[in-house]
Amino acid sequence: MPTTTAASVRVLNPRLESKIMSASEAAALIRSGDQIGMSGFTGSGYPKAVPVQLAHRIAEAHFRGQKFQVSVFTGASTGPELDGALAMAGGIHLRLPYQSDPETRKRINAGEMEYMDIHLSHVAQFVEYGFLGKLDVALIEVTAILEDGRIVPSSSIGNNKTWIDQAERVILEVNSWQPAALEGMHDIYYGLEPPPNRKPIPLTSPGQRIGSPYLQVAPEKVVAIVLTDSPDRNSPFKAPDEASKRIAGHILEFLSWEVKKGRMPANLLPLQSGVGNIANAVLFGLEEGPFEGLTSYTEVIQDGMIRLLKSGKLISASATAFSLSPEMLNEVNADMASYRERIVLRPQEISNNPGIIRRLGVIAMNGMIEADIYGNVNSTHVMGSRIQNGIGGSGDFARNGYLSIFMAPSSAKKGTISTIVPMVSHVDHTEHDVQVVVTEQGLADLRGLSPRQRAHLIIEKCASSEYKPLLQDYLSRAEQLSYGKHTPHLLSESLAWHNRYLRSGNMKPREES
Ligand code: COA
Repeated sequence: MPTTTAASVRVLNPRLESKIMSASEAAALIRSGDQIGMSGFTGSGYPKAVPVQLAHRIAEAHFRGQKFQVSVFTGASTGPELDGALAMAGGIHLRLPYQSDPETRKRINAGEMEYMDIHLSHVAQFVEYGFLGKLDVALIEVTAILEDGRIVPSSSIGNNKTWIDQAERVILEVNSWQPAALEGMHDIYYGLEPPPNRKPIPLTSPGQRIGSPYLQVAPEKVVAIVLTDSPDRNSPFKAPDEASKRIAGHILEFLSWEVKKGRMPANLLPLQSGVGNIANAVLFGLEEGPFEGLTSYTEVIQDGMIRLLKSGKLISASATAFSLSPEMLNEVNADMASYRERIVLRPQEISNNPGIIRRLGVIAMNGMIEADIYGNVNSTHVMGSRIQNGIGGSGDFARNGYLSIFMAPSSAKKGTISTIVPMVSHVDHTEHDVQVVVTEQGLADLRGLSPRQRAHLIIEKCASSEYKPLLQDYLSRAEQLSYGKHTPHLLSESLAWHNRYLRSGNMKPREES
C-alpha cells in the first residue's frame, strides 16, 4: 500500500515500499512469546508507533483473559511510547539490557517483570552466541531507505545491526522527523566475526571510520515498513547545582595534575562521560577548563558534549547515540550537517568495546549510587535491592579505561543517605576497577593504595561532614576487631546503615539525626 506522504519519499526502494502498512497492521505481525530486538538508546532512535499499537493489542488480549507478553531487548533506555506503553500494558516478560522508565522500574521492583541488567558491550554477542535464544523480530527506527535497499540509521545505533542480522522478521519504522542530514554520520562495522575467527578491530583513534554509513538488511526478511513523524523524547537535564560544579572542579584539578605529572597529554585522552545529571555537569565544567583539542570515545552525546564541540574545545566525538535535552535536540537537529564530520555513531559493541577502550586509553567518568570505604561501587541498586536504571556501559569503560573515575554528591535524599558507606549494598564495580572516587567534598585518588589506606583516604576526602565521624568510628573499630585486618569489616554492622534507613528513613542513628 504505497502512499505519497512526506515520509514515504524516505522509502526509495520499490520492493520495500510495497511493504508499507499501518502501525496496527505491523503490530499484528508480532506474536505472544516473541523475543523482539528494538532500536533505542537513551531516548533516541526508538520505534514510536508499533510498540504503542502492540501495547493496545496486549491490553485487549489481557481484557479477554488471554496471555500476551513479549521480551524486549534494546540498545539501552527508550521513551514512553516503548517502555512506558508496554510496561503499562503488563506486556513485557523479560527486559534487557538497560532501562530508566518510571513504569518499567516500578514493575521490575514489584517483581512483575524479569530484568537482565548486563554490560552493554555484551548484548550483541550474547544474542549472536545464542545465549538468549532465538530473536523473532527486529523492530528498528530508521531515517530513510535508499533505492538500493541500504538503510540510513536514526539518532542511535545501539544493537540495530545485530537485531537486523539475527531476527527472523524485520519491521522498520521510517521516521521523517529525524533529520535527513544524519546520512553519513554513522559507522557500521561488519567485520566482527565470532570466535575463533575474530580479528582485531582496526580502530586506533576516536573519530576514525572503519565501516559503512548504512545498515544492511536482507529484503526478504522485511515484513513491514511503517511511516512515522515523531520526535525523540529525551529527558531534560537538571541545571548543574553547587555540588555538581564542585565535583567537576575536583576532576578538572585532578586532570591538570595528571598532565603536569606527564601521565597524559595536554589535550588529555579520549573522554567517556556516563549518563545522568552529574556526568553532564562535569562536561559543562570542562567548557570552562584549560584543556583544548579534546576527543571523546563514549556511549552517548549529551548536552555538555555538544557545548564542547560548539566551543571548539572538543574536536571529535564517537558514541552510539544522542542523549540531548529537548532544547539542545532542536538546536542540533537544525544544524546536523555541521556535526556530521565531528560525530561518529557506532554499534554499541564497538562504542563500548573493551579492547578499543583499553587501546585508546579512555578516561572513564561515571555516576554512582554509592561507594564503600574500600572503593567498591554500586551504580544500580538503591538499598541493595531496588533497581534504579542499570549498569549500562559503566563497567565496559571503568574496567578497561586508562583512568576510572566514579562520582556522586556525598549524600542523597536531603542528607538522610550517605553515598559513602561502610559496605556497598550491591556491587557493580569492584575495588579493582575503581581508581578515583569524587564527591563535592573532594577527590580520593586510590591508585597504588592498600585497602586500609584507601578507606582512610575515601573517608577523609569524600565523606560528608555529618557522616565522616561515623565512618571513622566504624573503620577504627573494624581495624581493631575485624576477623582479618587486610580489608577490615564488622560484618554485623557493615550494612546496618542501609537497614537503619529502611527502618527509620535515615542512615544516621536517632541521636545524630
Ligand atoms: N541512595 C538512594 N538514592 C540515591 C542514591 C543513594 N545512595 N544516590 C542517588 N540516588 C537517587 C537520587 O536521589 C536521584 O533520585 P530522584 O531521581 O528521585 O531525584 C537519582 O538517584 C539520580 O541521582 P542523581 O544524583 O540525580 O544522579 P545522576 O542523574 O547522575 O544518576 C546514577 C546517578 C548512578 C543513577 C546514574 O549515573 C546511572 O544510572 N548510572 C549507571 C549507568 C551508567 O553509569 N551508565 C554510563 C555508561 S556510559
